[in-house]
Amino acid sequence: MPKRLHLYISSTIILAFLFCPPTRAGWQEVGQMAPSPAKGNQITFHSPAATAIVTVLAPDLVRIRLGQGTTLGPDYSWAVVKTDWPPVYPQISGDKAMYKIRTTEIEVRIQMNPFRVAVYDLAGGLISKDADALGAEWNGSNIRCWKWMPPDEHYFGLGEKAGSLDKRGHSYVMWNTDPAGYDSLTDPMYQTVPFFMGLRQGKAYGIFFDNTYRSFFDMGAESADTYSFGAEGGEMNYYFFYGPDPKTVITRFTELVGRTALPPRWSLGYLQSSDRYYPDSAYYSVAFNFRQRHIPCDGIFFDTAHMDESRDFTWDKAGFPDPSKLLSDLRQKGIHSFAIVDPGIEVEPGYSIYDQGMAGGQFLKRKNGEVYTGEMWPGTAVFPDFTSEKTRAWWATVSGNFAKAGLSGYLTDMNEPTVDAVPVSKEWIPKPLDADVVHYDHGLNSPDAKNHNVYGMLMSEATRDGLLQAQPNERPFVITRATYAGGQRYAAQWTGDNLATWEDLHASMRLIQSMGMSGFVFVGSDSGGFIHVPSTELYTRWLEAGVFNPFFWTHSGARVHPVDPWSFGPQQEDVNRRTIELRYRLLPYLYTAFYQSTQTGLPIVRSLVLEYPDDPRVFDETPANELDEFLFGEDLLVAPVVRSEETNRKVYLPRGTWFEFGRDHAYTGPLTLTVDTPLDAIPIFVRGGAIIPMQQVVEYSGQAPINPLTFEIYPEGSSARE
Ligand code: NOJ
Repeated sequence: MPKRLHLYISSTIILAFLFCPPTRAGWQEVGQMAPSPAKGNQITFHSPAATAIVTVLAPDLVRIRLGQGTTLGPDYSWAVVKTDWPPVYPQISGDKAMYKIRTTEIEVRIQMNPFRVAVYDLAGGLISKDADALGAEWNGSNIRCWKWMPPDEHYFGLGEKAGSLDKRGHSYVMWNTDPAGYDSLTDPMYQTVPFFMGLRQGKAYGIFFDNTYRSFFDMGAESADTYSFGAEGGEMNYYFFYGPDPKTVITRFTELVGRTALPPRWSLGYLQSSDRYYPDSAYYSVAFNFRQRHIPCDGIFFDTAHMDESRDFTWDKAGFPDPSKLLSDLRQKGIHSFAIVDPGIEVEPGYSIYDQGMAGGQFLKRKNGEVYTGEMWPGTAVFPDFTSEKTRAWWATVSGNFAKAGLSGYLTDMNEPTVDAVPVSKEWIPKPLDADVVHYDHGLNSPDAKNHNVYGMLMSEATRDGLLQAQPNERPFVITRATYAGGQRYAAQWTGDNLATWEDLHASMRLIQSMGMSGFVFVGSDSGGFIHVPSTELYTRWLEAGVFNPFFWTHSGARVHPVDPWSFGPQQEDVNRRTIELRYRLLPYLYTAFYQSTQTGLPIVRSLVLEYPDDPRVFDETPANELDEFLFGEDLLVAPVVRSEETNRKVYLPRGTWFEFGRDHAYTGPLTLTVDTPLDAIPIFVRGGAIIPMQQVVEYSGQAPINPLTFEIYPEGSSARE
């Protein structure tokens, strides 16, 4: 069993103090720049104090790099994977005052004094520009870029953010943090995705600020007519995407940083977890219950309780004397197993992972060369340096070997990274590594400040590589808590330690939509909430919403009460069974949506903004609008109940024909309906023109071939269903 337990408190207030963005005092203008002759798709500008390089990667995609000094630093990115763009031939012209770069889709105008960047469409319409009074500026090592914010522009994306979907009027910090017990105001969260879309009058552009330092996005909190983004170090390095369709922006962005691979089919079923499961008999009992009660389930998670004294890649021998047999018995019942892994490796000579890591020089060091130690679940721990390819290869071997006992996947936890887990009697105040820790980082031995935000992503990459090595014929499954832009290439993400509250159920839907608009497709939240025990009603409603999480599980840290689908009495059990069965009936539809996403990068939980960008009602979050609905795949509009004792709720149907799911009744949008929502109802509507592939209910996804595969056809512009 773990040596230490955690006490979760909302850390919102503490974090807000720690992460105040820099103010304008002390900021220095770039000033005047002069061009060098253009080379193909690239032009460089310089002054004695600064260098800027503007590169056209595609007709709708331009990269802008700006840094202090006469040259820029080494050019590499942990996020960007596409570098071999087909040649583009922009027209580049200019004089001392202004340079123009014209592609077949946009014109970038670069003013020399003071240096400013603006982007126009080909009809001369302004899409985006640096603010007139402030452009890109420095303040010591801090950098920031201020942009014009028209009154009717709205902002979406920025990854895992729990508050409103439209980021206008708010400010955010990117610094991977463990905000256990968060609420909808908490920021920063676990992940860093410095990408957002601007949307005005139905037209969208995107900006990806590829900078791994602690970064700041002020989307109009500080000023009514400018927004800004910046970081505590590094370059002003951003990519500008022009849609104008928001889906085109996401497709291009995910072409640049990569997409979620097709997951193993079992991982799209229902999965179960609880901190209470210990010892092995608890796992047998859970599996037995699922099958005996005919509640579908495809996987069970092994949290830290399976470890020997919280040590990674070990089994607690008393509780799990024969892990291979347990995992194989579960698999016989159609249940895949996946296990937690933490970055903190116990300092314990004789513990093979520690010994191997020390011998191989795999752990992070301080500037003075000492191996860094911090307190984590096992006690004093050391931390692998995942920026080193050699360390990632070692970790892959270790995790691959451990999986051979019969694990189908891993969950990479605490990888913000979080240290200084303290005993339960004290407050839980998560901390990052110490500031004097250095990471290998391509041989630069750079400070933690630069590498912190990519630690989780690189851990998930190495863990994924381990599964690929150990099980080359299986699709790997890794789910990670912390990550960086592009981390969807390696792992799914879940939204961490939420509370068993209606507010967090509501927040989970916005989190997942924001992540979806930032390239993250395979995401889900802990149904029922991780911290505390949900009420009977909340758990049932959360499962109903969870069916429409691409990653669907119950994961409870509550030890005082079980949170299994049957834990709240027979009546609820029946509702919960039917809810989970719906997920299985929809598996062909979901699997198809995942496949489509591998091609387009578009999310499965899709904000209505992506499909109806010209309909302001879909981002008007005035509470009376009850805008807590989303598309699931292209064709299902889902409006789960996210409030207590709600016997009916409003649903907004955008333009077009909408059918009640499984029924002949059609409506013509735009229309706001009030629908009845007894405890077993999930309002679902189907877009006219859709074909929904569905299958029979099974107890686990691999139980039987899909038979019958049915196609529900909902005709366009008609009120009759075939
Ligand atoms: C924190 C994670 O967010 C949670 O999911 C996990 O169960 C606990 N750590 C314990 O390992």
